[in-house]
Amino acid sequence: MASRSAFPSVGLVSVGAYAPQKVLTNFDLERIVDTSDEWIRTRSGIATRHVLEEHEATSDMILPAARLALERAELSPQELDLIVVATVTPDFPLPATSCIVQDRLGATNAAAYDVNAACSGFIYALSAVQAQIATGQFRNALVVGADGLSKVTDYTDRSTCVLLGDGAGAVVLREVPEGRGFLSTYLGADGSGADLLCVPAGGTRKPASHETVDAREHYIRMNGNEVFKFAVRVMEDAVRTALRRAGLTTDDVALVVPHQANIRIIDGAAKRLGIPYDRWANNIEDYGNTSAASIPLALNEAYEKGRVHEGDLVVMVGFGGGLTWGAAALRW
Ligand code: UT7
Repeated sequence: MASRSAFPSVGLVSVGAYAPQKVLTNFDLERIVDTSDEWIRTRSGIATRHVLEEHEATSDMILPAARLALERAELSPQELDLIVVATVTPDFPLPATSCIVQDRLGATNAAAYDVNAACSGFIYALSAVQAQIATGQFRNALVVGADGLSKVTDYTDRSTCVLLGDGAGAVVLREVPEGRGFLSTYLGADGSGADLLCVPAGGTRKPASHETVDAREHYIRMNGNEVFKFAVRVMEDAVRTALRRAGLTTDDVALVVPHQANIRIIDGAAKRLGIPYDRWANNIEDYGNTSAASIPLALNEAYEKGRVHEGDLVVMVGFGGGLTWGAAALRW
């Protein structure tokens, strides 16, 4: 933290989010795979998830989320000089979805790149962009977490398809008065767990072929039990590390905005950290696991419900494929 004072403070000045209109309920899933509303609710806390229509793609969700964030920041698209999209479900393998968003927004002065850190992607992007602004490379940045997981979900695999949903969240980052904004960030990765959560084909290791499609290898595969254990452990560690780096403790936290993967993971982390449950943002019931979108979706909901106040200490924490994890502490 000592070196941070040499740089201007960077904060999150607005948030916006969007989820597709189409909703898939647990009862809809009961008709698709061998599952039940009761199993899904008790094991994951999920009741519904929003999913893209066949003709829709990830950037179609980003546009409304981004426009809302820009409007709330009173910024025009032309004033943006950077757009970063965290996603594992880009519109296309090439080009970056951020470039598509840049064009569709009319943000002609913005550089654009994507970040692939799965469900931790939004935290990774925040960490990178706040440093890029603090060091004077950019002034006004749009940071997006967005995923259309339904497009890579195997609806014959009951262990994954009941969990996943689609959505997008966007925030505007810029310089803020000293003492506000980001106080610390912390990122981690463990690539030895890469196979615990992956899409086996469609990359250079196993390019798309008739065989890979027949084997359903373009869909997400997950070892749920192993990811669960990892998640509870790193959620606690990431929050504690981010707070320690900011010189603060769990008592100082007004709101934790965690990645929404499973209500039991959030409960477990809340207990381990001793942060009362009413200080956690939680909307998994309505959206399921939306990967990189889940933290900004939950943050947007907390903001709209008036749960975030000026001066509040907000901690965002995520974990996911890679394996990756990260947390960010900021003064609202
Ligand atoms: O975004 C980050 C990545 N994802 C996560 O963080 C997910 C982490 N993992 C989890 O959330 C949980 O491990 C799951 C929700 C995926 C699974 O819950 P679980 O309590 O760990 O269940 P399990 O995998 O141990 O399975 C228990 C039983 C099994 O049956 P048997 O072998 O006991 O007869 C499964 O076959 O539940 C069965 N099962 C289901 N039953 C009904 C698995 N999925 C379903 C289902 N409906 N959808």
